[in-house]
Amino acid sequence: MKRKLRVGALISGGGTNLQAIIDACEAGRIDADIVFVGSDNPGARGLERAEKHRIPHFTVDYADIHRGYRTDPKGTALPGDFDLAEILAKQHLFPPDTERETLVRFFSTRAAAEAALLESMAERGFDLLVLAGFMRTLTPYFIDRVNTDPERPRIMNIHPAILPAFPGVDGYGDTFRYGCKVGGCTVHFIDYGEDSGPIIGQRAFPIAPGDSLDVVKANGLREEWALYPECIQLYAEDRLRVVRRTSALPGGGVMTRAVVEISTSGKA
Ligand code: GAR
Repeated sequence: MKRKLRVGALISGGGTNLQAIIDACEAGRIDADIVFVGSDNPGARGLERAEKHRIPHFTVDYADIHRGYRTDPKGTALPGDFDLAEILAKQHLFPPDTERETLVRFFSTRAAAEAALLESMAERGFDLLVLAGFMRTLTPYFIDRVNTDPERPRIMNIHPAILPAFPGVDGYGDTFRYGCKVGGCTVHFIDYGEDSGPIIGQRAFPIAPGDSLDVVKANGLREEWALYPECIQLYAEDRLRVVRRTSALPGGGVMTRAVVEISTSGKA
């Protein structure tokens, strides 16, 4: 029998997506086991869900690392293999004219936190890392150490909007405030930008005239709970491949982008 996919999860909050994935694993709807749950926030309710299902869990307290850096920047232990110049050359999170001090603070504290995450994750082998309401962007330092095969990225994220519309921290809020008549969610692989990686799956739902933001969020989450396990199962079945696709643009020229190809069965 084929070994089940070993899935690690990172969360920051309530963990309803984590719960949907745990339930799908336990019900045999996906051929996967959650092997750890990590959090950047010691108060994340999702950690209780992990505990209840006897899933190993850990926290790397990002806020604590930031506090430490503010008090004593030199006291923040940076990983030995951290190369700021390399990270700055790769990152797509900040525009080029960003103040150097901001960049140094952000990428140094992130590297310290991410090294701690990697260390905890390394204690448990995993095939796929899913971000399930993890509210910290990951930097190239972390991404490169998890994604070692460019053809088979290993980090998935769920975002509460139909990307590329409304990246960022408040997808449903942005969708609602804009007056959209349809909302949705997206599962994508992570790249060096913010919510910009190759798209694996999307689901949409109608927004009726009287719907409040709370209704939009509730309807969106319901779609997320169905979409995320489906995408994980596609990964478990080895049906996802990232390819570079070049397409002609209407005004001339071409656009090249990494996109996900999904095969109908077996290998992509
Ligand atoms: C979900 O709506 C998820 O899409 C979103 O946070 C919520 C987490 O809910 N993620 C992001 O915005 C990531 N940038 P949950 O903790 O109940 O799964």
